[in-house]
Amino acid sequence: MAKILIKNIKGLVQYGENLPVVRKGKEMKELPILENAFLALEDGVIMAYGAMSDWGGITDWRDLEVIDAEGKYVLPAFCDSHTHTVFAKSREEEFVDRINGLSYEEIAIKGGGILNSARRLAEMSEDELFEQALERIERLMSYGTGALEIKSGYGLSVEAEIKMLRVIKRLKAECAIEIKATFLGAHAFPPEYKENHRGYIDLIINEMLPIIKEEGLADYIDAFCERNYFSVEEMAEILEAGITIGLKPKVHVNQFSAMGGIGKAVELNALSVDHLEELSEDDIEALKGSSTMCTILPSCSHFLSIPFGDARRLMENDLPVALASDFNPGSTPSGNLSFVWSLACVKMKMTPEEALNALTINAAYAMELSDSHGTISLGKKTPIIITKQIPSLAYIPYSFGDQLIERLIS
Ligand code: NIG
Ligand code: FE
Repeated sequence: MAKILIKNIKGLVQYGENLPVVRKGKEMKELPILENAFLALEDGVIMAYGAMSDWGGITDWRDLEVIDAEGKYVLPAFCDSHTHTVFAKSREEEFVDRINGLSYEEIAIKGGGILNSARRLAEMSEDELFEQALERIERLMSYGTGALEIKSGYGLSVEAEIKMLRVIKRLKAECAIEIKATFLGAHAFPPEYKENHRGYIDLIINEMLPIIKEEGLADYIDAFCERNYFSVEEMAEILEAGITIGLKPKVHVNQFSAMGGIGKAVELNALSVDHLEELSEDDIEALKGSSTMCTILPSCSHFLSIPFGDARRLMENDLPVALASDFNPGSTPSGNLSFVWSLACVKMKMTPEEALNALTINAAYAMELSDSHGTISLGKKTPIIITKQIPSLAYIPYSFGDQLIERLIS
């Protein structure tokens, strides 16, 4: 049995019993921190915590790893509720095209973007995709990611979508962190279905979904609701078909335009609506009183130079905000959530406390991991992170670009 005692912790963050599963609006400013604390874990389960002055000492020292966290903070690990971590190749040539004046949308219309990734993925074996993704996940874990959602969506054919989902299933079994799988067959229309949307939607519903159901390949269903991609009606039809086989919707909406996708997703009880760079008043109204998480992806805004999601507006309307990386080879080639934390503070004017709630409690909710992730509470099997020695918690988003996470214990 692996027993770990962490002592002299400068600040034990997001700790306590009966913490909420979602923090919304003004509550997002709340962040419990216990100074000069200890934390005891057994096989990853939180057994005890408290002030060092209340620590009764250890009676059984057998097989106990003692970590001195003097000057360091201990936090629940970040949850990354939106990524495309399985892909074949990086796309830095498109990055250079954008520097030279093309827009992300123009590159996509020319056959780059998602279709570029799909062509490359079709050629790669399942084993190679798996090995590459495993390496990426190890790097994400070193950045403090303790739970990861991964989408398909670079397949766009029955064979390749199923190949991606099988890779994700293997990653679930092999990785030390919790992984959730999202089926994103509706990421783009493949070229052969450009003029035949009906044909591709039928392929998703009649060919892909039955295999996904039979092999238990996904937890969620996603669609990219956007001009030149899937309309609100097309998204709704696909999500409804997913719901009938037990997949909850979790969708790409409002990245470049507000088309009414949020209202429809909320109507279908989406677990989260993700991107939200554009938001209409109708979108806000639809979200009020719903159980749908608003997930913002600031690294995507940074990399594509598009607007940042208006987290303050959402919070002013008493809504909850989660933050995720959107790690993918096209719009967000970084899965570093400390950088996301920093962007949220600098560009979206979230306070460090609000942003950390968005990366822990609210992000855990957006992947249905509230029972195990997001807070440091007794009896929870929670991955945690230990920071390097830092003067304050706000130093992490302040010191952008630095790697201040020392260790993930999962
Ligand atoms: O979330 N917006 C749609 N999908 C991804 C980008 C995909 C790509 O460019 O490869 C995103 O940003
Ligand atoms: Fe995405």
